[in-house]
Amino acid sequence: MTHDAMLVFPNQSRCPSGSRDSLRAAFSEHFRNTMNRTPFQKTVLITGANRGIGRAIVECAADRGAARIYAGVRNLDSANELVEHYGSLVQPIQIDLDAPDTIEAAARQATDAEIVINNAGIMHITSPFDDDAVPLLNREFQVNVVGLLQMARAFAPVLRANGGGAFVQLNSVASLRATSAFSTYCASKAASYSITQSLKDQWAQQGTHVVSVHPGPTQSDMGSAAGFDEIATPAADVATALFDAIDAQVFHAWVGPLAELVSHSYAEFSQTVIEGDMRALREQAFS
Ligand SMILES: NC(=O)c1ccc[n+]([C@@H]2O[C@H](COP(=O)([O-])OP(=O)(O)OC[C@H]3O[C@@H](n4cnc5c(N)ncnc54)[C@H](OP(=O)(O)O)[C@@H]3O)[C@@H](O)[C@H]2O)c1
Repeated sequence: MTHDAMLVFPNQSRCPSGSRDSLRAAFSEHFRNTMNRTPFQKTVLITGANRGIGRAIVECAADRGAARIYAGVRNLDSANELVEHYGSLVQPIQIDLDAPDTIEAAARQATDAEIVINNAGIMHITSPFDDDAVPLLNREFQVNVVGLLQMARAFAPVLRANGGGAFVQLNSVASLRATSAFSTYCASKAASYSITQSLKDQWAQQGTHVVSVHPGPTQSDMGSAAGFDEIATPAADVATALFDAIDAQVFHAWVGPLAELVSHSYAEFSQTVIEGDMRALREQAFS
């Protein structure tokens, strides 16, 4: 761990992942290993909770002793398996990042949320000169950027009323380094990282801790669609990293070997500029 960021690698202790049976076995072992850890007993809301990284976050939140988990999903039926497994701990709640009315309704319903994790996102494989680059860029911005902004705006009063809490945004290594095959997705993740920085500064006043999570290639449907299966890190590592970052009150969480490399090169810039005091920087520049 650096002083201002969390790094999670495959050999570190992490929340369980795998098939249903192996998952249960891993849960039992993990629970034995973590019996003495104080449960965080917070109410957590997660968007895109039904599969991929979002599902791993639900599992990790349950493992760490969450008091209640709002599983944000577009289609409520897609949370059935989670409810079967966790019972009343998991409460499905409809959230479509493309439908602001569902976000506002969720904020009116989940008034006890203390940790809000905006995980849902979409990715298209689009290079700058593809015919559909412009409409796909618009789609990705709508979900990955406008959706984030609307989540933050809707849940700001909820978090404030509940003592500040934490807001976590799933960004990416792609927020810092574009790949031409995923150009529009990378642009949307750079924009969501920018919004996340603004939230960090703005919410310092109300005591809401903001975490920007930057996974490299990760095991999920999105990871497979991107062709990452051979190099992908388990989704559980992302979940572990983000809860550890909340515990440690750090802003960045880097997950997996590629993110580790990027974070090393980025550390000084991040410390001075991204996490530095902008007023002090201005004074230094113009004095
Ligand atoms: N996988 C990677 O390699 C990787 C790396 C870095 C960052 N990330 C980021 O991590 C996050 C999760 O990715 P993932 O790999 O788990 O993706 P995934 O396997 O494709 O799952 C995406 C999740 O987002 C939900 N979703 C899609 N559009 C939505 C919308 N308009 N409103 C609400 N929910 C919506 C999906 O719900 P449905 O089931 O209803 O479609 C699903 O639950 C994303 O923000 C992604 O950009 C992923």
